Amino acid sequence: MALIRQHLIDPEVCIRCNTCEETCPIGAITHNDDNYVVNYDVCDGRGDCMIPCPTGAVTAMRLTDRIYSTEEQLTWEDLPEDVLDDGQAHAADGDALALQKAAHSGEGAGVVPPASAPAAKENLYGASTPATATVTGNMRLTDDGKETDIRHIVLDFGKTAFPWVEGQSIGITPPGTDAKGKKHHMRLYTIASPRDGERPGYNNLALTVKRVTADDADNGQPGIASNYLCDLKRGDTVQVTGPYGGTFLMPDDPATNIIMICTGTGAAAFRAMTERRRRHQPDAPGTVLLFFGARTRGELPYFGPLKKLPKSLIDVEMALSRESGEEKQYVQDRMRARATDIARLLHDEKTHVFVCGLKGMETGCADAFADICADAGIDWATASDRMRSEGRYHVETY
Ligand code: A2P
Repeated sequence: MALIRQHLIDPEVCIRCNTCEETCPIGAITHNDDNYVVNYDVCDGRGDCMIPCPTGAVTAMRLTDRIYSTEEQLTWEDLPEDVLDDGQAHAADGDALALQKAAHSGEGAGVVPPASAPAAKENLYGASTPATATVTGNMRLTDDGKETDIRHIVLDFGKTAFPWVEGQSIGITPPGTDAKGKKHHMRLYTIASPRDGERPGYNNLALTVKRVTADDADNGQPGIASNYLCDLKRGDTVQVTGPYGGTFLMPDDPATNIIMICTGTGAAAFRAMTERRRRHQPDAPGTVLLFFGARTRGELPYFGPLKKLPKSLIDVEMALSRESGEEKQYVQDRMRARATDIARLLHDEKTHVFVCGLKGMETGCADAFADICADAGIDWATASDRMRSEGRYHVETY
């Protein structure tokens, strides 16, 4: 039987982040309220959507014995059984293997991990084979009086191996079904602990989770996964998939300078990276410069511990937008205030930039970099292209 190569998005793994649809330059990807799908008639198999996909839902071509229409895919809850998975597809199809390899080496879309980052394991636990973790802590990070409820949730994997490196995420699928009786979708949460555990030497990790209220959400509904996680009690068990992410990874070379820019829970990856340096590279010659945006000091996760870290380890610029009696500041304002330091770091080929947080900050940060560079005689368009292709400029926004 002749098999057909088809790009199909796994609805069980997809987190509906819209990245694939935004990335596809030929408009082959579309979505409805339920699924993101690929139009077979438009897709030319170029694979631009694969590398930015944070979960691997669209990682490789699949082999099928017939063409699945867009209309059919839009109704799926999981992939049909006759669709061969990645491994089977690799064995059966050399082209699919080549595409997969290209995705992991970062060829094609210009997104590569930092040269000195460790090789990250990905997709060890899938939707049908999740790892079970036990909640060993759930602590509120934001001040009690503040409306923003951000939590530090510790998950222990017991005897189950769950390796990760700083910058990776895990997947959580809230139990139960939605109003239409469909299983909930998986959501991604960045790991906030370094690879040797939230507590050094323990098989545990922490997440930084903001409770999404009806007021916060675009659809006016409280966040299903965030409320599930924020309400967990010690001793509860959680099904975890992943780890995910092969490019937004911490460089291991202690001589690298890291410019970290985040808002709110975007700080999770930077906490993991900072803890890595604090524990294992305390005398690292590289500079860490953090721009951290929050509404107020009381709503800035990890504010207390951050204040205690020495400037030699991490230089922190806070941007507070709603602190009473203080001028409204965004991270990009603080970047402009530190233009001289940023320009100096950008001249250094050992400098990496990581941006993580609200979607809106992406353009704001790029504009700030462009202005800072213009004043310093650097062409930002060329410099940022080069940094991207060298795995030194990474953006993760939502
Ligand atoms: P704002 O006070 O304007 O909402 P949140 O608490 O909603 O997660 O937001 C974290 C921080 O990011 C807040 O200080 C928020 O300011 C700020 N912020 C909102 N939009 C942007 C943007 N486009 N660029 C940078 N920071 C932003």
